[in-house]
Amino acid sequence: MAKLTVEDLQLEGKKVLMRVDFNVPVKDGVVGDDNRIVAALPTIKYVIEHKGKAILFSHLGRVKKEEDKPGLSMRPVAEKLSNLLQQPVTFVPVTEGPQLEEAIDKMNDGDVLVVQNTRYEDVKDGEYVKRESGNDPELGKYWASLGDVFVNDAFGTAHRKHASNVGIATNMPGKAAAGFLMEKEIKFLGDAVDNPVRPFVAILGGAKVSDKIGVINNLLEKADKIIVGGGMAYTFAAAKGEKIGNSLVEKDKIDVAKEILTKAGDKLVLPVDNVVANKFANDADSKVVEGDIEDGWMGLDVGPKTVDLFKSVLADAKTVVWNGPMGVFEMPNFAKGTLEVGKFLGTLSDATTIVGGGDSTAAAKQLGIADKLTHISTGGGASLTYLEGQPLPGIVALSEK
Ligand code: 3PG
Repeated sequence: MAKLTVEDLQLEGKKVLMRVDFNVPVKDGVVGDDNRIVAALPTIKYVIEHKGKAILFSHLGRVKKEEDKPGLSMRPVAEKLSNLLQQPVTFVPVTEGPQLEEAIDKMNDGDVLVVQNTRYEDVKDGEYVKRESGNDPELGKYWASLGDVFVNDAFGTAHRKHASNVGIATNMPGKAAAGFLMEKEIKFLGDAVDNPVRPFVAILGGAKVSDKIGVINNLLEKADKIIVGGGMAYTFAAAKGEKIGNSLVEKDKIDVAKEILTKAGDKLVLPVDNVVANKFANDADSKVVEGDIEDGWMGLDVGPKTVDLFKSVLADAKTVVWNGPMGVFEMPNFAKGTLEVGKFLGTLSDATTIVGGGDSTAAAKQLGIADKLTHISTGGGASLTYLEGQPLPGIVALSEK
């Protein structure tokens, strides 16, 4: 990456504005999965060990009305960070004004401060004004004025063009650097997609073809094989003229699926059997079927022959990118396909195996296979945008080396 990195910056005594992605699940004031906070620790620690004053910005959820604010405060996140760092963290419950400015002025070298949810700026006096998510030029300028340098470690937000990432960076020319997490994500995803050790196999799943069209089109040019499972496989089955019963289908995407099938030839590997159920519930009656699915039944997982087929395609792979589950993995009776494919990935010891965020990360964790894989991305939408071959505005805005 030819972008400036945190190691290029002079940090001692500096007010270091940091964009992190602490968009983590919070329920009743308690942080659930803290993976994104943990993933940002190396950069935060580096900044404070080098005697910078770490001023952290993040969004949390989506703020569209005043009532959204109390439940989306960063306070529990700041407390969690304090526990993880084992040092006090100052939480400032506002996003601008004297209270924030004074708190920053009081910081000593090595201190950490967390600013309130940047998306509080999206709602002012009850109106949805989108100052943060619309990248209001004054807001980016104001936040940039609070610090000396900027470090963006929020890969998960890099596909957004918001004031707290792009706005601050463009107002700090020559001083906007990538953090270690950002660098690591780009290295793994970038090497996998643009410079893969071959064979390179992509595994795509999840409910909708429409979410993955860009990814499929980009990866068709780069991958040696693309395995397709999950709900989206039924739109492809319908495009091939197979009966899919009551399975999930995007009728308006059948033509696109047909085009992809023609273009892909044997690069696309589709399920050959499915676990079908008589209702969308874990306790549904279920059976394995090959080929047509009768009316009244819906495919909720890939079948055992498909798992074997997918494993045979993956066996020689040297690079694997996995985005999206193979079935309804949240229901134990329909998790087997995702589990088997994930477990098999964990056995590919001389392959680089990358999970592209979102549902597949949740699946890998829930199924206990995350630590067997090379890299689990912290970005859902950001990974998808990257896999589509699209530029990520949060990265583009950083200073060149
Ligand atoms: C994510 O969770 O994917 C990122 O934090 C971005 O969140 P957003 O989709 O609300 O912009």
